Amino acid sequence: YGNSRINEKGNLEIGGCDTVELAAQWGTPLYVMDEKWIRQRMKQFVQAFQATGLAFQVAYASKAFSTLAMCRLVDEEGLHLDVVSEGELHTALAAGFPPERIYFHGNNKTPAELVKGLEAGIRLFVVDNFTELQLLELLAQERGMKVPVLLRTTPGIEAHTHDYIQTGQEDSKFGFDLGSDQVYKAVQTCMKSPALHLEGFHCHIGSQIFEVEGFRLAVGKMAELIRNCQERYGTHTKILNLGGGFGIRYQADDTPLEPADYVEAIAEEVKRTFSEEERPEIWLEPGRSLVGEAGTTLYTVGSIKEIPGVRKYVAVDGGMSDNLRPALYQAAYEAHLANKADQTPTETVSIAGKLCESGDMLIWDTVLPSVESGDILAVGCTGAYNYSMANNYNRMPRPAVIFVADGKAELVVRRETLDDLISQDVIPERLKRKKV
Ligand code: LLP
Repeated sequence: YGNSRINEKGNLEIGGCDTVELAAQWGTPLYVMDEKWIRQRMKQFVQAFQATGLAFQVAYASKAFSTLAMCRLVDEEGLHLDVVSEGELHTALAAGFPPERIYFHGNNKTPAELVKGLEAGIRLFVVDNFTELQLLELLAQERGMKVPVLLRTTPGIEAHTHDYIQTGQEDSKFGFDLGSDQVYKAVQTCMKSPALHLEGFHCHIGSQIFEVEGFRLAVGKMAELIRNCQERYGTHTKILNLGGGFGIRYQADDTPLEPADYVEAIAEEVKRTFSEEERPEIWLEPGRSLVGEAGTTLYTVGSIKEIPGVRKYVAVDGGMSDNLRPALYQAAYEAHLANKADQTPTETVSIAGKLCESGDMLIWDTVLPSVESGDILAVGCTGAYNYSMANNYNRMPRPAVIFVADGKAELVVRRETLDDLISQDVIPERLKRKKV
């Protein structure tokens, strides 16, 4: 995983840190994020774009993993930041992230969220629907502002890793439909309004995509929209945001493309489709591909249950509370024994979580060296949508997150305490335990 290797002790090492020592020092479950890997990935996207000669912006979709320290990395690497809630916006602003590089996504931004974005002076809003368009216009008017917007469209392309579906219309809760005249109505509303400044369009065709074809198709569909708007309403499109969705390697036999492969294919299609004068700035907003492979979750093995001839269950001290993805999407992961990284895998086991739910299985049928209670299990590729979807089911405290780099480990999210778990609870007076 990331910048990992097996050290002299036979232990898994990430970012120069012995993961067995990390587990001892910080406790388990523990999210370990390889800072250098994240920075390298961000640079790969930026450098690939620079090589194309196109005007571009790369944003990080903070829903994948949003913390104060992560926002600092994104700021230091000079990327934009995509937020989808007041919580993500608050995190960014609290981290000192420049508002002029933040933009706001979401299909149901509340009035309070829109106001917070307006007052913070964020770069723009990606408007999702007519309700929001009207509300944003009103709120901007009240403040005497002209607010920059992109319109999110659903281009009728749905990418499913190795496959894509193309339809005239898309049945989705997100965005203005391209198959009807919806988006054109929204464009007209923007063009007429003194409070709205339409800077361009957005689309996002899916997540964990393994090929470039869907992005090429999206460029074509969006180009048609851009030309129609230019011809019909004289709209100048400054920005074309093609979303995120770049696939990553969850398992050794996954074959994702490199960031440069996606960027080059998109750039080629953009150059082929638009003349130099009409070419908009191209924005991308990867989430998973900037952090996913940088993350490893460390667990301690506890109970082991063998049903002879059937299966061996190896239970760890976390599960669907820190990694919801297997239960939610049947997502597949790979595991290694961090303290036996140099040993040959010999037995087939299934990794169970400790939550009270039969579906709380992290990995079915994986091959590990002989497992014992007390071993440290490392599950790779847990940097995206793991901490960010962590929950307190069974009153499990959320794990700590550390950044590792150059042999140093630093805390970026402290582990929730038992008192944190009850800190929002209130006992009404009448239910309080009476003194006897
Ligand atoms: N932009 C938009 C508008 C999105 O909706 C998303 C993800 C992204 C960018 C970033 O996509 P990425 O590059 O991370 O694939 N919880 C799910 C993934 C949900 C993705 C939602 N939207 C999972 O764990 O797989």
